[in-house]
Amino acid sequence: MELETVKLYYRECGQGTIPLVLVHGFPLNHSIWNEVAAGLKEDARVILPDLRGYGRSPAPEGMYSMRLLAEDLRQLLDDLEIEKVVLVGHSMGGYVCLAFAQAYPERLAGFGLIASQAEADTSEKRQGRYHTLDEVKSKGVRVVADSMAPKLTAQAEMVEPLRQLMLHVATVNGVTGALQGMAERPDATEWLSGISVPALVIGGKADPIMPPARAQTLAQFLGRGWLVELEGVGHMPMMEAPQQVIGALRELLGHVG
Ligand code: MLT
Repeated sequence: MELETVKLYYRECGQGTIPLVLVHGFPLNHSIWNEVAAGLKEDARVILPDLRGYGRSPAPEGMYSMRLLAEDLRQLLDDLEIEKVVLVGHSMGGYVCLAFAQAYPERLAGFGLIASQAEADTSEKRQGRYHTLDEVKSKGVRVVADSMAPKLTAQAEMVEPLRQLMLHVATVNGVTGALQGMAERPDATEWLSGISVPALVIGGKADPIMPPARAQTLAQFLGRGWLVELEGVGHMPMMEAPQQVIGALRELLGHVG
């Protein structure tokens, strides 16, 4: 399959033998990981990419299938001459990591999904995404920023900064491309058991976007998976409970050796 990759922008900090790659969700950028990355810089080389369409990465037109976004990541790792990684994704970033794991299982040393799921969209959800896509085309990314920000966290003081972040880092091509890519993504539940490396699942118990049952399914199907459920935490565990996320990732790095 010929997939046309783009060169992703990324930031990195810290050092360690097996790099930890943290992949942001929709419609955000690498900066959601800043606090967690700073807390892990003694433990690992932490790499924070901006997915295509977000932040400082290129934003071409077209559908951003999860497989294509995974291929951009593969290209980044090749450019950095990195063979194996501990790969962790947040929400849509998790869908991208699942696509990467399916295509390149041999490049994983460890795996993690935060506020994510393996299930494909229901037809209702898919229709909703295409409706939003049309609205974004005519009214801009504000449509998504306004509707999503209040759902991301129950911490009122974080809502407006998150809304501003989305307005700042998301492009129309990025949002429409990812909406279509998410709508068309396949169900990954079946082959979760094919991921044979240590795998961390984190779920916020107060996440209205990704209910706790999704995280429980992930941990159940991942062969070497375990679940960390965070009380009172919503869709943004890395910002709402950074110390707990740092602790859980440190444990994952410990399992990887
Ligand atoms: C995300 O946070 O990345 C998205 O809300 C995931 C989704 O819409 O399925």
